[in-house]
Amino acid sequence: MKFSLGTLVVAASTALPLINAITPDGMLAAPRRGAAVANPSGEFAVYTNTNYSFATGHATTIWEKLNLTSGAITTWTTDSNISEVVFVGPTNTSILYINATNEEGDGGVSLYTADANNLSGATLVASLPAPYQGLKAVATGSGDIHFLVYSRAYPNGTAYNPDTAEEAPSTARIYTSIYVRHWDYWLDETRNGVFGGILAAGNGGHSLRGGMTNYVTGMCNVTCAESPVQPFGGNGDYDISPDGNSVVFLTKNIDLPLANFTSSQVYLVPFNGSRTNARPINKIGAPSVPPAAQGASAAPTFSKDGSKIAYFQMNGIYYESDRNILYVADANPAAFNVTALAGNWDRSPDQLAWSNDGNTIYVAAPDLGRERIFPIPLSAGAGYKPTNITNEGVPALFNTLPNGNILVSDSKIWSSRDVYSVAPNGTVVQTYLQSNLVDRALSGLGPQDVSEFYFSSNSTQIDIQSWIIYPAGFDPNKTYPLCFIVHGGPQGAHFNSWSTRWNFKVWADQGYVVIAPNPTASSGWGQNLTDAVSGHWGDYPYWDLVHAWDYVNSSLPYVDTVRGVAAGASFGGYMMNWIQGHPLGRRFNALVTHDGVTNSLADYASEELWFINHDNAGIFTSPNETSTYYRWNPILYYENWATPHFVVHNDLDFRLPVSEGIMLFNMLQVKGVPSKFLNFPDEGHWVLNRENSLVWHTEIFKWINYYSGLSNATSPY
Ligand SMILES: *[C@@H]1O[C@H](CO)[C@@H](O)[C@H](O)[C@H]1NC(C)=O
Ligand SMILES: *[C@@H]1O[C@H](CO)[C@@H](O)[C@H](O)[C@H]1NC(C)=O
Ligand SMILES: *[C@@H]1O[C@H](CO)[C@@H](O)[C@H](O)[C@H]1NC(C)=O
Ligand SMILES: *[C@@H]1O[C@H](CO)[C@@H](O)[C@H](O)[C@H]1NC(C)=O
Ligand SMILES: *[C@@H]1O[C@H](CO)[C@@H](O)[C@H](O)[C@H]1NC(C)=O
Ligand SMILES: *[C@@H]1O[C@H](CO)[C@@H](O)[C@H](O)[C@H]1NC(C)=O
Ligand SMILES: *[C@@H]1O[C@H](CO)[C@@H](O)[C@H](O)[C@H]1NC(C)=O
Ligand SMILES: *[C@@H]1O[C@H](CO)[C@@H](O)[C@H](O)[C@H]1NC(C)=O
Ligand SMILES: *[C@@H]1O[C@H](CO)[C@@H](O)[C@H](O)[C@H]1NC(C)=O
Ligand SMILES: *[C@@H]1O[C@H](CO)[C@@H](O)[C@H](O)[C@H]1NC(C)=O
Ligand SMILES: *[C@@H]1O[C@H](CO)[C@@H](O)[C@H](O)[C@H]1NC(C)=O
Ligand SMILES: *[C@@H]1O[C@H](CO)[C@@H](O)[C@H](O)[C@H]1NC(C)=O
Repeated sequence: MKFSLGTLVVAASTALPLINAITPDGMLAAPRRGAAVANPSGEFAVYTNTNYSFATGHATTIWEKLNLTSGAITTWTTDSNISEVVFVGPTNTSILYINATNEEGDGGVSLYTADANNLSGATLVASLPAPYQGLKAVATGSGDIHFLVYSRAYPNGTAYNPDTAEEAPSTARIYTSIYVRHWDYWLDETRNGVFGGILAAGNGGHSLRGGMTNYVTGMCNVTCAESPVQPFGGNGDYDISPDGNSVVFLTKNIDLPLANFTSSQVYLVPFNGSRTNARPINKIGAPSVPPAAQGASAAPTFSKDGSKIAYFQMNGIYYESDRNILYVADANPAAFNVTALAGNWDRSPDQLAWSNDGNTIYVAAPDLGRERIFPIPLSAGAGYKPTNITNEGVPALFNTLPNGNILVSDSKIWSSRDVYSVAPNGTVVQTYLQSNLVDRALSGLGPQDVSEFYFSSNSTQIDIQSWIIYPAGFDPNKTYPLCFIVHGGPQGAHFNSWSTRWNFKVWADQGYVVIAPNPTASSGWGQNLTDAVSGHWGDYPYWDLVHAWDYVNSSLPYVDTVRGVAAGASFGGYMMNWIQGHPLGRRFNALVTHDGVTNSLADYASEELWFINHDNAGIFTSPNETSTYYRWNPILYYENWATPHFVVHNDLDFRLPVSEGIMLFNMLQVKGVPSKFLNFPDEGHWVLNRENSLVWHTEIFKWINYYSGLSNATSPY
């Protein structure tokens, strides 16, 4: 069924008239900018900018060029075949790029060298027979270019090209061990592999010399190595040394079964592909490795002189949200000499960039609702306490410029992309882009739309934070219905960042005050708050949310809690279902669950047993009343269900199967609780397609606006 655009726009705008309100279609069509990547001399940076038209149903991507001196932004190229660009080659404007097509038109890609100031003079240097991506490249002393890309590969190491692959006569899938599917794909014989290639310098240009080397496929014990790790790993899972002679990549632990553990290790191998005695830098139990370092690794990155490798690793071998610790190892296969920096720091950094001199590593870590950048010197001992040099926002990428400053691309609740440079001492040197000041759909948005408060609760020892997001034209002498949004994870947070899926400002501008609390489990307030949710899904975070509601009710006179609604996805969806059966459920006029848990006894329908086992504080055994699988099950409180409930659940969400949403809806209907079910057959855990997202917003807003009294519709349907 296809809804006409006109119907949707009318339905979405049934809220009260507002000043400069950001609408779902405005937000969804607005420019989406990639992160700015500077050229080697730091004179300019390039990034993608994608716009969508609901009129034509098409997205258009162009590349923009940012002059880092003048701040001028110009269109660099409108050729959307250019999917990735790396600065490499003889001059500061030499580039290597991936053209997402090739001459054979067989689903492969091609590589071109060019001068950034003369793209029309680009030279084809390699036509590759698979959809490789994740380009990294360096120039060697001889002028050759060594590059890395990744692709799915067959067990024999050959890259897999879905467009040319032979189709089996049957669609059967057969498994003899767990981990049969994950996120939105079924496991087959292919796994990601990192490939290296050489573009040899010749008279006047480069050309591919020899075949591609797959560094990963074929390293198998209990499981086979895979890098980048699907589904979210990208070229941050591997790196090439500045001299082009070495490659680091991470893979999940090959000695452990995939479903039970998050443990992963970083391997250092020669670029030429020999991997005799390949062993991880952080092999569990190796004498040079701290014995506790057994968990997931991330972000292996060479220092700029290539002598060291920095990476993060967690301790917990099956805990995906343990604290990341920053490690530095010598890039020397004879003695890796692994050292932890600021090892006791009670934050969990997850992005890093080396300083030019190799004496400092800049990391970004969740910190009090933002993701802030902190310099950590190589001399930092276990007790070192880093000090942040940025404040608001969540970086998408940051890197050091030749002058030592850091170029940051981030987003905020009020801005989809900001680009600025900051000095190592925390002084903002130059602000290049603030999308809320240039994008029409975002016009009027700013820091004044957001504030925060802390409140005491009874779950842990620390005060809990919550964001407040005000509607357009907010007047503190008026009242606005409460919209209470609970985040997923549960380990995660409501950050000061832009989202195209849960955009607080779009919800607020329907006419709500949005309250977005960060209860027990949230990241950025120390590891204890995160850890405390294990075995406590139904009590600690729930108590925090009750306290948040009480605080809002007693302290924020402009919030009308009587007309309040609540919504959440994933763990937030679980929490909506839990709230439905508990007293807090009676304080809301409507609930919205997006891809949540309805029956926690069915948790093992997920492939992420590491997560299920950790969060339930143990594996699934007989489900008696002391088991967390049993105790925190929302359906135990079915007799209390009464609040009108909107249910979204998508077919391709393999960790939280669609049956959870269908069951929730069926149970609500049988009980006679007003309810509505929205399903997207082509979406997974997240609704990504903009046309689908517009329907998602329209239908949910119709529901909550009816029950909060914001719309004058005569029915919620
Ligand atoms: C940046 O702008 C300045 C001032 O207009 C100009 O002199 C310089 O050439 C520009 N740099 C680039 C890389 O375009
Ligand atoms: C990309 O490759 C196609 C051939 O597959 C070619 O026609 C086109 O000009 C290339 N574009 C760029 C920017 O390299
Ligand atoms: C690897 O396996 C695939 C799939 O079976 C096959 O198409 C390809 O030719 C093989 N490559 C080599 C080098 O044998
Ligand atoms: C393979 O894994 C087992 C543990 O399951 C381990 O004992 C053994 O040492 C591993 N083999 C190699 C070559 O790492
Ligand atoms: C992996 O998890 C399954 C299910 O809980 C369990 O049966 C199996 O023993 C686990 N394997 C290991 C090595 O922990
Ligand atoms: C290991 O690294 C530490 C810290 O950088 C250094 O003090 C020590 O000398 C190194 N050890 C070896 C054997 O290189
Ligand atoms: C560091 O974070 C604090 C909040 O903890 C903030 O007030 C301060 O402005 C930040 N410092 C810089 C240099 O941005
Ligand atoms: C911080 O760095 C900026 C930019 O390099 C410089 O202008 C400023 O003087 C420095 N401030 C302090 C307090 O050192
Ligand atoms: C709110 O009301 C107070 C007291 O009546 C008044 O002083 C103030 O100007 C009002 N604020 C706004 C934004 O209208
Ligand atoms: C975290 O909890 C442990 C155990 O309860 C406690 O010893 C420690 O002091 C706590 N750490 C912080 C930073 O609160
Ligand atoms: C904590 O507060 C919640 C919400 O008010 C309440 O239901 C719960 O019983 C309290 N827990 C304890 C241990 O007092
Ligand atoms: C009840 O469940 C707990 C936790 O899963 C388990 O440790 C215990 O053995 C079970 N008791 C019985 C009687 O099955």
